[in-house]
Amino acid sequence: MNDTQVKQRPFYAPYSDGVHRMAMGLMALSYDDWLEVDEFFAEHVAEKSRLLTEHYDEVFQAVAGSEAGQREVLDAVLEHMTSHHPGLIASDGETVELKTIGERHRLSDYVAAPMNLAGRLAQEDLCLMAPGEAGYELVAASLCFPTRWRLSDKIGRPMLAIHGPVPDYAKRLGKPVDRFLDHLKADKPVMRVNWAILDDPALFQPGGHYKHGGGEHVTAENAGEKLYIRVERQTLRRMEPSGNILFTIKIHSDPLSCLDARPDLARALGDTISQVQDGMREYKSVGRFGDAIQGWVGRVAGGQS
Ligand code: HEM
Repeated sequence: MNDTQVKQRPFYAPYSDGVHRMAMGLMALSYDDWLEVDEFFAEHVAEKSRLLTEHYDEVFQAVAGSEAGQREVLDAVLEHMTSHHPGLIASDGETVELKTIGERHRLSDYVAAPMNLAGRLAQEDLCLMAPGEAGYELVAASLCFPTRWRLSDKIGRPMLAIHGPVPDYAKRLGKPVDRFLDHLKADKPVMRVNWAILDDPALFQPGGHYKHGGGEHVTAENAGEKLYIRVERQTLRRMEPSGNILFTIKIHSDPLSCLDARPDLARALGDTISQVQDGMREYKSVGRFGDAIQGWVGRVAGGQS
């Protein structure tokens, strides 16, 4: 998308086939589409600027020795944004300007933490993974918009530990994901998309998995406005020459009512949610809205199958 186009929401519907599965779900990605810009660009980068000022330790962390890898990330983000979105980000080699929010940063102020600057220039959160003794480890992150996790729990840790709270990750995904990361080619970036249902549209949401109760205010009648489909568009790319892997996360948070005109997708979402069982149902905290969502699906999709 260029700087001015506005696409129809929802952009992504990872529930569109009505089937819930625990899978890698990777899709090929072109470098031209690596970082995504939408109509919330100014709002998102302004919120990042605020969070990086008011909650720095919660949204930026890096291990010692990761500075060169971080610089590689900053160079890649700068190159992409200035060439694909010159109306939003401009650089003269010494400073970087965020045109829509009137901010200018000096590159020399970010020598110790280059990803602190890189994260400000895109809507994506950035997680840098470097090879360690137990596979790829999270060595630096600019994470302003977490979906219910805390950076301090994950920094310096390998993939299996990072995914510790995810039911069945170790059993179903641990090995295939590690193998995939080992073989990821620099010229073959990929993306995947996941989904969550939340009753809060805030971008910064650390913590909050395994919530019980508290869903009584949501009904079939008001679920369209009270609940949000939060979709993460994630990308993975190999960085060169370091060999590190960069994981990016872009948030799309749309009220359920964005599916009012798409009864097919509303039905598919209801079917997908009804298949989320046991530990994953607890993890995603969807049970407490289950009846309201299915009632809402009935209102929007009626008898459509
Ligand atoms: C092919 C690569 C990957 C796959 C298949 C994968 C899969 C998953 C799945 C299935 C979940 C559960 C969330 C949901 O479905 O709503 C999850 C959560 C998560 N993933 Fe990944 N992931 C991948 C890469 C990464 C990487 C590179 C990071 C690096 C930071 C990461 C960090 C996380 C975190 C922090 C969570 C939340 C964990 C929590 O609740 O504490 N993932 N991932």
